[in-house]
Amino acid sequence: MENMLVTGGYGFIGSNFVRYLLDESDYEGRIINVDSLTYAGNPENLAGIEETYGDRYVFVKGDVCDGERMDRLFDEYQLDSVCHFAAESHVDRSIVGPGAFIQTNIVGTFNLLEASRSHQGQVELFHHISTDEVFGSLGKEGLFMETTPYQPNSPYSASKASSDHLVRAYHETYGLPVTISNCSNNYGPYQFPEKLIPLVIQNAREDKPLPIYGDGKNIRDWLYVRDHCTAVWTIMKNGKKGETYNVGGNHEMENIRIVEIICDLIDALPHMNAKPSRRSLITYVKDRLGHDRRYAIDSSKLKNDLGWVPEESFQTGIEKTLAWYLAHQEWIDRVRSGAYQEWIRDHYEA
Ligand code: NAD
Ligand code: TYD
Repeated sequence: MENMLVTGGYGFIGSNFVRYLLDESDYEGRIINVDSLTYAGNPENLAGIEETYGDRYVFVKGDVCDGERMDRLFDEYQLDSVCHFAAESHVDRSIVGPGAFIQTNIVGTFNLLEASRSHQGQVELFHHISTDEVFGSLGKEGLFMETTPYQPNSPYSASKASSDHLVRAYHETYGLPVTISNCSNNYGPYQFPEKLIPLVIQNAREDKPLPIYGDGKNIRDWLYVRDHCTAVWTIMKNGKKGETYNVGGNHEMENIRIVEIICDLIDALPHMNAKPSRRSLITYVKDRLGHDRRYAIDSSKLKNDLGWVPEESFQTGIEKTLAWYLAHQEWIDRVRSGAYQEWIRDHYEA
């Protein structure tokens, strides 16, 4: 892996991954970050990387939906590996407008697979980043296994499921060397403040309502983003081709509990007025359509086969996350400006 294509490297997880690879991991090659800079892509997420790493980091503004362009990139940069993050990633947006999800998540993945197929021999690995949401919703008991049948419920998860199937099929049909990871909910620095944790941190700091969909008892498994990055790199280095690996944090929690924890942490900050508690900002709003009740993931395959375990507990991860958001108010102001504000008003009113 000397010339790695990272798609979506200016998004939340992609930018954390690029930083992890360059700053912390044993990767010694070059990264070519292809990102079309949607609302979720922000060059500021990798500020200082070009200056620090020179030729080892290249940014190409490009759309994965442009198949010819993607194909040319494999020659231009002699790409030998792919880590595919680029996607439309927000469930609520997929409910309002599924079209972009079909294009980027399905057609975009197809284009990258085709480009990899036409450079077979040159490409030694195509790693596809997916989600546990492809498995659908759990009842009170049980965990998602790699063998759990797919049953996606939202346009987002259906588009991710579709891309997973394409990746798998390219391995079975053409022998493309692929690996897939299905990860639970990530949180941490650089997450766009439309997702639950950064949204709640920001609203709580500004004394704005904290919207809880439905009864707040929906459950997600939470993984600190750096732990996701170490998992992806472990799989890319040592994973078996054609295999899927589940990645989770072993931190199942009801949404309402997450919000309460964040409120309490902010109340306890020395310069914050805690009276009344920020919990009083919690506002129950209309439920999300088709809202999955519970996600929980069994990542014992990744642990047993490749020795990966997450480092952060939810407590340490959320404290780090809060500290990062408190120190980066300008970043938040910039990503929340303009059209996003309008959108958030339209979609999150109580
Ligand atoms: P994000 O929305 O923060 O970032 C997506 C990035 O992809 C942005 O930089 C955006 O500009 C880019 N992009 C979007 N459409 C593109 C296109 N057509 N061409 C090129 N670039 C494009 O997403 P994220 O939360 O960082 O998620 C990254 C990946 O991880 C996605 O595949 C997502 O499905 C998966 N995932 C996310 C989570 C999570 O909790 N965030 C959990 C499991 C899996
Ligand atoms: P989200 O961060 O959008 O991730 P995902 O839908 O991919 O799991 O939402 C996490 C959970 O929080 C989900 O059950 C929906 C819920 N939620 C709220 O209750 N209020 C909010 O404002 C948001 C954004 C999410």
